[in-house]
Amino acid sequence: MDNILIIGAAGQIGSELTIALRNIYGADHVFATDIKHLPQDIMEGGPFQLLDVMDDKRLIHFVIRHKITQIYHLAAVLSGNAERIPIQAWNINMDSLMNILDLAKEVPEIRKIFWPSSIAVFGPTTPRDNTPQFTVMEPNTVYGISKLAGERWMQYYHQRYHIDARSIRYPGLISYKTEPGGGTTDYAVEIFYDAIRHGLYECFLSEDTALPMMFMDDAVKSTIQLMEADASAIRVRSSYNLGGISFTPKQLAAEIIRYIPDFKMTCKPDFRQAIADSWPRSIDDSVARRQWGSTCSYSLGDMTRIMIEEVRKKIKAKD
Ligand code: SER
Repeated sequence: MDNILIIGAAGQIGSELTIALRNIYGADHVFATDIKHLPQDIMEGGPFQLLDVMDDKRLIHFVIRHKITQIYHLAAVLSGNAERIPIQAWNINMDSLMNILDLAKEVPEIRKIFWPSSIAVFGPTTPRDNTPQFTVMEPNTVYGISKLAGERWMQYYHQRYHIDARSIRYPGLISYKTEPGGGTTDYAVEIFYDAIRHGLYECFLSEDTALPMMFMDDAVKSTIQLMEADASAIRVRSSYNLGGISFTPKQLAAEIIRYIPDFKMTCKPDFRQAIADSWPRSIDDSVARRQWGSTCSYSLGDMTRIMIEEVRKKIKAKD
């Protein structure tokens, strides 16, 4: 039986992936960990431990004590925050990944690991439309540089030590359960809270900035699909492109107006505009679809309807 360790279970992806994995593997087999406390349902729904991925000694004890066989390492400093603290962000993003890769090398019971990469691995010299799986990669953000270096290390550990390392380059993730923190694509989540609360949103990107995005249900489904695929099908050991939906702030605002007719968005681009301008506008994920059958089903319309419904419920429950 597999025992799964989730690092960063309190985060935007972790809080949803933990629940999905507990439904598949049984609550007692999915160990949620983070450096902070988790939302109530995760803390009460199965084992939880405060654990810092930078603490390699505690990490190895934890893995051995709980007979961990799979690790999802989701903790990271995102793009916007990383530009504020470049060296710390580099250290956190890289050292934590190296701790996990080394652990997988030292503990043979660990069968596979998942680590997310990002569209941030691409840069201003990358073709921006339908960005291919294999292309020019010259990221100019700390976050992107750390993700690209991480991808190379994933590939290296697979090649050299036969670690079953698997990864997805997530686009911007949109969800209502846990808000993201410090990313460039975060506007696409913030906008729903401000639209519902105030009917008004000031976007930190210009209205025509197209970026690839994905609804969380699709991201969770694809991640589990990748992890459950036969190892022989996974031929890319750096990280897979995953497309989702591509839209601009203006297009998202137009969808929101269908539910909140008086909604107004203004744009005041800040330093994150330059980050967005260096990233793809849309992604070609045909390699992932061919090799392990990744499928994304939510459109911009589906995603907006669900976000409006769920964020409304959440805000109502809080007030
Ligand atoms: N959503 C992330 C960010 O904006 C990209 O991976 O930093």
